[in-house]
Amino acid sequence: MPDSKFKAFVFDAYGTLFDVHSVIEKCNELFPGKGETISRVWRQKQLEYSFLRQLMGRYTTFLEITGDALRYACKDARAELSQNTEKELIDSYLKLKHYEETEEVLRKLQPYRTAIFSNGSLNMLTPLINQSPFAPLLDDVLSVDEVKQFKPTPMSYQLVLEKMEVRREEVLFMSSNTWDIAGAASFGFHTAWINRQGREMDQLGIKPHYEYEDLRGILEHVK
Ligand code: LAC
Repeated sequence: MPDSKFKAFVFDAYGTLFDVHSVIEKCNELFPGKGETISRVWRQKQLEYSFLRQLMGRYTTFLEITGDALRYACKDARAELSQNTEKELIDSYLKLKHYEETEEVLRKLQPYRTAIFSNGSLNMLTPLINQSPFAPLLDDVLSVDEVKQFKPTPMSYQLVLEKMEVRREEVLFMSSNTWDIAGAASFGFHTAWINRQGREMDQLGIKPHYEYEDLRGILEHVK
């Protein structure tokens, strides 16, 4: 058994294992020339709404929020969203492309415990993960919907400890989202920021333990 100080390798979903901007193609098909803007505003509002609803104590599922954010992004882009088009775009969110190194990395992490921990509700995570080649390589798929508390609240990360029966210092948590890395590090996980675009870390008073340009970097912890 390889000897790592980590007992669980836990991954954020959207932006980390799955490319949220793989919807740009469908957006451009439906609204030529507006795809990139709609996708960017859609993701920005999806996250903003989750943060604001958490602060207001008005939780609803991430799937609901994703629909609300899509409607905002299309109105903002003066793109007429019919019910059929809305369904087509939400369906594309259930079939996002995964990052190419994901399956290889998850395979090399066996026999360690692996999990997804996401703000996504299971009614969007399950179809998304099941259409990927690496569903069998994940021991757990955990959604904040079980506790109705969005990341980056400490109460959300607590779910990982309870479900995986590990201590916080035994978890290596991966995310491409700096707010998620800051929340997880603040909670006590070790954190690996998957910085695919070479961005700056947000100034939130806490830094990732590790930074890699893609998921392959984390394999140094299971040599
Ligand atoms: C996730 C999104 C918010 O939790 O990145 O998967």
